[in-house]
This record gives sequence, structure tokens and C-alpha cells, in this order.
Amino acid sequence: ESGVVRRDRFSGGPARSFLSSLAADERIFEADLEVDRAHTLMLAEQGIIDEETAGSILTALDAIEVAGHDSLPDGEDVHEAIETAVIERVGADGGKMHTARSRNDEVATCIRYRLREDVLDAIETTLALRGSLLDVADTHAETIMPGYTHLQPAQPTTVAHWALSYEGAVRRDTERLLEAYARINESPLGGAAFAGTTFDIDREFTASLLGFDGVVVNSMDAASSRDFLLETTQALSTHATTLSGLAEDLIIFANRGFVSLADDYSSTSSIMPQKKNPDTLELVRAVAGDAAGNVQGLTTTLKGLPRAYNRDLQRATTHAWETVDAAVEASEIAAGAIATAEWNADALAAEAGAGFSTATGVADLLAANGLPFRTAHELVATAAENSAEHGSADYDALDAAAEDILGEPLESHVDPDAVVDALDPAESVASRNSQGGPAPEATTPQLESGHDALGAD
Ligand code: ARG
Repeated sequence: ESGVVRRDRFSGGPARSFLSSLAADERIFEADLEVDRAHTLMLAEQGIIDEETAGSILTALDAIEVAGHDSLPDGEDVHEAIETAVIERVGADGGKMHTARSRNDEVATCIRYRLREDVLDAIETTLALRGSLLDVADTHAETIMPGYTHLQPAQPTTVAHWALSYEGAVRRDTERLLEAYARINESPLGGAAFAGTTFDIDREFTASLLGFDGVVVNSMDAASSRDFLLETTQALSTHATTLSGLAEDLIIFANRGFVSLADDYSSTSSIMPQKKNPDTLELVRAVAGDAAGNVQGLTTTLKGLPRAYNRDLQRATTHAWETVDAAVEASEIAAGAIATAEWNADALAAEAGAGFSTATGVADLLAANGLPFRTAHELVATAAENSAEHGSADYDALDAAAEDILGEPLESHVDPDAVVDALDPAESVASRNSQGGPAPEATTPQLESGHDALGAD
């Protein structure tokens, strides 16, 4: 038989293991069996192969599944190995399974079939993380904390406001994954090598057996495009980048005594007995680097590939598997670390006003009472510069600056009690109730929208 001759001719040599993806294909072993079953059923349904042959092939596929990937005969990849195993069990008629298809449409279908599951797992972990962040926001609507820009004290905010900032970002990560899922979920099967087939196949039938929403119509597109893989890896990389910022914040907060990680999410030192280190979060932070590297590797592999199938594609796939595994793990760990961390309200409150973080609120108050904002800004900055505690200012320092800059006492512009309130971090937060702001009355609707979106996703 020519098939046997061909296989013998290409079965050995120094490049054999370089060519083979059989080990890495373990990930799509189950997918390939499902694709083989759907294709066999379709061939029988269309009268392309007889029902008895189809039956023996399906029986063989069941036995191969039970035996497992490790029992497969040698092969260039899982598709070839499973086909060989079918022929070993059924005889030469087992070779009818590969009628009207190619490994090119087969592998593309397997990748999409398996990636769907993996992306659903990734979506689940983003939902769990959003749940953890919403719980923190629920509990800490009134827990005042310092807010930073450039990592310098900026304006007081709340732990809820901080948590909701990440909830919003992770919500968009979920959306990107859902959108990627929709484009993964189309069947390339029946595209054959790239150029279609003379057989009267039913692509919609195999697509629906495999749970796809439809088919990738153009057979050359079906067999050779991997933009779905790139898009998914990019979405996962974006999520990993969100996670890295979240991890970095928590590492800084742990360093400042604002948050205490549960022991389960901490590590110790082999030499320094007192140490409790945020190692898990450092590893979460690092996953963004791996993911970005995989996006780069995948993009570079795909760049400039001509139509139609090229073997480069075999090495493209692993970038996506590595990324989804790392991102799912990092997302789960981040969710767990957030859910079990303890927030130190006293330490947060003590630092909330540090670095004269209420300065903007005082300037806002003066502006609300008729001073041009720029003049108010200058007045508060002058007070901070001239005050005994350099860089901060109390009522007296502000009053002195008013005499300097306006030639009038502060109280001729603003109620002194309001100034004292504006200097208080908790009052400062409560007054910033603009849409999306940190005041509890402004975080309540953010929290509700977070819960609604989580319910909907
Ligand atoms: N294992 C290959 C892959 O992952 C599929 C095989 C297609 N081989 C070929 N020579 N056309 O892309």
C-alpha cells in the first residue's frame, strides 16, 4: 500500500523527534478523539463510508481513549498516531477515517476545541477574582487609605475605591476573553488541507456535533489562520498585566503594614527567621512577563507566514497553552490572596493624610468659595512651603498664606470649620462624591454595577 510505503520512507532519521509534536499533543488527545468521532459520523451520515466501518472506527476510538495518550503508537503527531492505532484495531478500513480531511483542518479544529475549555476556565477565574474584589469593597467602603500617584502620597481614598478600580479592569479582561471565545468557537473542520474536497461533506453537521457556533467558511482561512490564537493569548496577557499591577500594589501595601497576607499566600526565608514574604504575589507579577513573551513569540512565528498551512504553526500553539495555564494559575492565586488578606484600618488611617494629601481638597474648597482655582492652588502650596512642618499645612499656615497672597484673612473667603473638615482625610474622602469617586455614596453604585455585571457574566 502506498500509505505504508510513504510512512516507512518518512519514519526515521535525525529530524524525527524535531518534527514530532506527539508529546505536546497530549493536550489535544481528547479533542482529537472527539473530532475523529464527529468526522466519522458525518462520513457515514453522508454515505461516504458505510455504517459498519464507521461503527468499527468509533469502537476503536473508544478503546484508544481508554488506553490513553501514553499507549499511542509512535507518530509525527497525535492525529497520525490515533489513525495508526485505529488501523491497528480495525484493519485497513480504519484508514477510511481520514477521508475528506487533512491534518491541517483537523489540528485547527482540535486547538479550537481544547482552547474553548481553557478560555472558559480563564473566564471563571476572572469571575472569582471579581468576586473577591467586590467582597473587599463591600467590607471596606469606609476604610480610609492613602492614594498615590507616582507612588507619592496624593489624595486619601478608601480600600473599596481601590478594590473597585481593579474590579473594573478585570471586568474588561473577562469581556475580552468572552469576545475571543466567540471567534474561537467556529469550526474549521472540512477545510481539508486548505483547498476543500471532492466529497459531499456536511461541515455544519460536524460543527454542531462538536458544539461550535458555525464554520470558518473559506477552507484556506479555516486551515491556516491562527488569529484566534493570537487574540486569545493577547487577552490573557492583558489580564496578566492587570494582575501584575494588583500584585505590585499588594506587595507595596504589605511592605507598609497596610495589609497582611494570609500565611497560605506568604513564604518565609530559609535563613531569616522573622521573615514573611509576599512571594506568591511576586510570582503573579512575573507571569505578565511570561505572557508578554508568549505574545511576542506567537506574533513573530505567525508574522509573514504565507498561505496556506506551514509547519511553523505547530510551534505557535504551545505559546497559547503556556499562557493560558500561567494566567489561570495567577488569577486563582490573586483571587485567593485578596480574599484572605487582612486590611489594617489603623495603619491605613494613620497614613491617609500623610504628605499633605488633603491639599487638593482644601484648594477645591477655596475654589468653591469663589477663588480662581489657580490662586487657591498657589495659596495652599505657599502655606505648605512656609509651615513649620514643611510640606504640610494646618489652619494657621493657610491663614498666613491668605494674608500673604490675598492681603486678607482666610475667614473672609471661607468658613473656618469647612477648612478644618477639608484637612481631615475622612472628611476629604466623604466630600469627593462625584460619579466614580471614593466617597461611600459614590462607591455604592460602583459596587452595585460590579455585582450586576458579575451576575450577568
Ligand atoms: N502537528 C501539526 C500541527 O500541529 C499538524 C500536522 C500537519 N502536518 C502537515 N505536515 N501538514 O500543526
